[in-house]
Amino acid sequence: MTPASVKKRACVIGWPIEHSRSPMIHGTWLKQYGIDGAYTREAVQPDDVMDFLAHLSRHGFVGCNVTVPHKEAAYKAADVKHDAARAVGAANTLWIEDGKLHATNTDTYGFMAYLKQKAPNWQQADPRVVVIGAGGAARAIIYGLINGGCDEVIVLNRTEARAEQVRAHFGEKIKLMSWSQCNDAMTGAGLVINATSVGMNSEDCPDVDLTRVDDACVVSDIVYTPLETAFLKAAHDRGLTTVDGLGMLLHQAVPGFEKWFGVRPTVTDDLYQAIADDVRRSQCSSSD
Ligand code: ATR
Repeated sequence: MTPASVKKRACVIGWPIEHSRSPMIHGTWLKQYGIDGAYTREAVQPDDVMDFLAHLSRHGFVGCNVTVPHKEAAYKAADVKHDAARAVGAANTLWIEDGKLHATNTDTYGFMAYLKQKAPNWQQADPRVVVIGAGGAARAIIYGLINGGCDEVIVLNRTEARAEQVRAHFGEKIKLMSWSQCNDAMTGAGLVINATSVGMNSEDCPDVDLTRVDDACVVSDIVYTPLETAFLKAAHDRGLTTVDGLGMLLHQAVPGFEKWFGVRPTVTDDLYQAIADDVRRSQCSSSD
């Protein structure tokens, strides 16, 4: 068999891994583009992850996605760490190139691509930008915002020491405000992002006053279970443009698929609806 005819295989690794929607996303694209490839779920225990990644091609994979709790380990395991992964200190997309394991973090791309799709004019008025959170997802977003031309990003985080680490990493474009000042941070804001896990599988909501933001403010949430979080609902009720977490999830899958299978896939409305339906179904069954 010539190398060109070898069926390419990629996977997502995590522990646990059953919940991952990546096989559905990549499986849809493989079918849609008629590619003779495969994308599977691989349950890899924390003790085994370094060994698994060291032998990724021996396991038959050209690359993989990485989810909780292996993103930092994947970053460490990589021979070549791309800028987005360095900015976050964690990797979610790996591929083998010239015998070396490469790592990037496509959350940055996913967030920025979907923001541009849903709110193409968000940057026109040079808005006040506020990121709530200082974990891995927040770092990926902050990296995208700064690279995308934001001169200042206000960061709020419950644990202020973590926000200070973000400032130390990204430098003077980060302005820190304390958790108790969060409503002051909202005054006149033009882009507000919840990059915390608050609202995941709950009615909880970041405790900020959205009446203070600019009328043209765009409000985004990385949480997609539920699809419309309480935070996005509050923004919607206030008449603001909202950017949900599901679109970010779909767009972050694009660069990996292109690396592994050689086709740049499109995030279609049909794909969005199919994954949204799956999220709704799982929400219904978990509340049974
Ligand atoms: P991820 O890599 O997915 O971003 P993470 O690194 O664990 O995950 O970060 C989770 C983020 O959600 C953090 O900003 C966390 O705040 P702390 O640094 O104070 O822990 C935030 N977060 C989680 N639960 C929260 C809550 N109940 N209230 C406020 N912030 C919360």
